[in-house]
Amino acid sequence: MTPTGRAIVAGVFGWPAKHSLSPRLHGYWLDEHGIDGAYIPLPVPPESFAQVVRLLPAMGMAGANVTLPHKEAALASVDEADELARRIGAVNTIVVRADGSLLGRNSDAQGFIGNLREGAPDWRPEDGPAVILGAGGAARAIAVALFDAGVPELRIVNRTTSRAEDVAALVGGRSQVSLWLDRARAMDGAALVVNATSLGMTGAAPLDLDLDRLPPGAAVTDTVYTPLETPLLAAARARGNVCVDGLGMLLHQGRMGFAAWFGVEPAVSQGLRDFVLGGDGA
Ligand SMILES: NC(=O)c1ccc[n+]([C@@H]2O[C@H](COP(=O)([O-])OP(=O)(O)OC[C@H]3O[C@@H](n4cnc5c(N)ncnc54)[C@H](OP(=O)(O)O)[C@@H]3O)[C@@H](O)[C@H]2O)c1
Repeated sequence: MTPTGRAIVAGVFGWPAKHSLSPRLHGYWLDEHGIDGAYIPLPVPPESFAQVVRLLPAMGMAGANVTLPHKEAALASVDEADELARRIGAVNTIVVRADGSLLGRNSDAQGFIGNLREGAPDWRPEDGPAVILGAGGAARAIAVALFDAGVPELRIVNRTTSRAEDVAALVGGRSQVSLWLDRARAMDGAALVVNATSLGMTGAAPLDLDLDRLPPGAAVTDTVYTPLETPLLAAARARGNVCVDGLGMLLHQGRMGFAAWFGVEPAVSQGLRDFVLGGDGA
């Protein structure tokens, strides 16, 4: 529906913002629920972010998502960040509270777990070790999510080992760091493998990972969703592993913000996936 003058308005900060799928995602839910609202791209360069984000209440906006490269700056800019956002070290969802203050939250952990449980319904945290490849913002959220879900052992593998150690420190004794060169060995007995690097994305090199040691019952998931079927997922599917693509993580992480701004708990459906994929990604 076309917004009226009373519409609730939210958006997504990014630089650039034109590749974000979030306007289509939230636009679908607004239509689905007949809500008088709007969700818009907010392209803001890094040097202006701290100033612009403080204008959300003055502009009468309900809040915003935050994507690259602003997630850490958002943590520093809000009046209060919830515990999960502070542990992860990044804010991707901002809620303007009734008193005009900014609450920072992080929905990537919830998005990751929601997508995994939907795509691999037989996976259980206690099934065994999880291997996380990568140590950036996505890996931090995923490590915290899997730790909180009760995974007994987290194996963090990253090209830059010192960054893997930082992620391991987030989750303490249940984690261990493996060298990037040893990543094939990290597959031994794993129940879950997560690609949280940018490898495999259209235009980037594929993730070079030997899956021979991975048990056939393990689940494999990717944070990359362009393409949906990454070379990692194609290789894992070919050997019979349950595979979960990265689009669902994006869709599930959007639920937290939508509920806070527009007052309705939205669902992730096949119709939503088809609609979001039907766009040109811009
Ligand atoms: N599906 C979703 O909802 C969702 C949400 C967030 C992010 N993501 C995706 O997750 C991925 C990571 O995002 P991020 O925000 O965590 O990015 P980031 O902070 O920039 O981290 C990038 C990671 O990729 C690794 N990497 C990059 N090039 C590499 C190479 N040539 N060889 C080995 N490792 C390499 C980096 O290793 P070093 O530390 O050694 O540089 C680092 O661990 C991106 O593809 C992003 O689109 C998806």
